[in-house]
Amino acid sequence: MLKQHIVSLFCLTAASAVLAQSPQSLLSVLQANGFTEYAQRLQASEPVDLRPGIVVYAPSNNAFTSSSVNVTVARRADDTIARRNAASYNFGYVTYPTHVSSTGNNTLSTIIRKRETDLGAVYETLYQDQSVRLGAGHNQTLVQRYIPSASLPFVFTGLGKYVRVTGDDIPFDHGVIRPIDGVLTLPRNLSTTLQSLGETKFGAALQSADLVSALQNTASITVLAPSDSVFNLASTLTKTQLAQIIKEHVIVSSGLPLYSPWLENGQVFRTLGGTNITVVVRDNVAYLNGAKILGGDSVIENGVVHTIDKLLSQSIPTVPANAAMKTRLLSWETLTCSFMGTVIAAAHFLM
Ligand SMILES: *[C@@H]1O[C@H](CO)[C@@H](O)[C@H](O)[C@H]1NC(C)=O
Ligand SMILES: *[C@@H]1O[C@H](CO)[C@@H](O)[C@H](O)[C@H]1NC(C)=O
Ligand SMILES: *[C@@H]1O[C@H](CO)[C@@H](O)[C@H](O)[C@H]1NC(C)=O
Ligand SMILES: *[C@@H]1O[C@H](CO)[C@@H](O)[C@H](O)[C@H]1NC(C)=O
Ligand SMILES: *[C@@H]1O[C@H](CO)[C@@H](O)[C@H](O)[C@H]1NC(C)=O
Repeated sequence: MLKQHIVSLFCLTAASAVLAQSPQSLLSVLQANGFTEYAQRLQASEPVDLRPGIVVYAPSNNAFTSSSVNVTVARRADDTIARRNAASYNFGYVTYPTHVSSTGNNTLSTIIRKRETDLGAVYETLYQDQSVRLGAGHNQTLVQRYIPSASLPFVFTGLGKYVRVTGDDIPFDHGVIRPIDGVLTLPRNLSTTLQSLGETKFGAALQSADLVSALQNTASITVLAPSDSVFNLASTLTKTQLAQIIKEHVIVSSGLPLYSPWLENGQVFRTLGGTNITVVVRDNVAYLNGAKILGGDSVIENGVVHTIDKLLSQSIPTVPANAAMKTRLLSWETLTCSFMGTVIAAAHFLM
């Protein structure tokens, strides 16, 4: 007991000594740890006034050399807003962005504010340009999530892409460096993202229903896109019916969209189509009216897309109509009875 205490005391003292003697800058810690490609890009970008609490996602050298696109790094740091909001958001770090382009010259300056749950964390980044439409005061986000069987989290960004966190955080004088194995992909619009995800039927339905621009111009949407294999609609549907079905798969939030780490057992969300969606979380997997999220957290310019394994439409006949429909309604009723709390997202849809 005493021995253990002495050992701890020793470790503590040793750790303090290391901390005390090492006010090491971001660049020197990056370089010392082999992130030379990233450090070089940071050096070439605008200077930054680093303040405490920043999380820097640092891609490995290999991530830059193997990337098929030119990656630019933009440095911006302003954690004053994050600090001001820290109490109300219940998180304290400011993430700092790594910046990346999927087309050659776009920069994704990340960083930011974070909220953590058992399922993962959502970081609001420093990236903000005209394409980002998440509501006033919100910059683009990224989602850090745990995947069964992997001990370190994955980071989800645009176009359904993700990178892996590859090691422990490395402290520097104003925060931590978090190593990742790839560059972050800039979020794009809904149509481009659905295409990239292979959600061709849902994407085509959006066009037929003439909802593309309305949805893309709405701030903070969550799109639950049934996978192609289950999105089998009768060809006789009218445009109005089609629009109704699609709206039953879209939630508009008054705050940030529903990134998966924020889904909690018992939440109920109202869709644009007027139906309710109840969340059940079982074994760390979220189900929405019984539909499982197959691919979650594809970040888009104005929200997020989750691919699901069932059609959620309540009211319109589908093909095949009967068996699937009955099962779904049954599980819907069961789920509704089991909810413990209620959250209705404000649905202001500007059309
Ligand atoms: C990357 O940038 C270089 C120089 O700016 C240019 O020559 C090259 O074509 C770019 N590559 C891509 C894939 O955009
Ligand atoms: C990239 O964007 C910057 C700033 O918008 C611009 O000055 C520069 O010319 C662009 N570079 C290329 C290769 O398009
Ligand atoms: C959004 O990004 C801008 C520019 O990077 C930054 O100044 C601002 O603090 C960020 N806002 C939030 C809410 O993080
Ligand atoms: C979505 O983005 C693509 C480029 O990624 C663009 O060609 C298309 O016009 C955009 N769609 C809308 C409706 O803005
Ligand atoms: C949706 O949920 C709200 C609140 O729980 C409830 O008042 C409303 O009746 C529900 N609507 C439908 C269509 O089930």
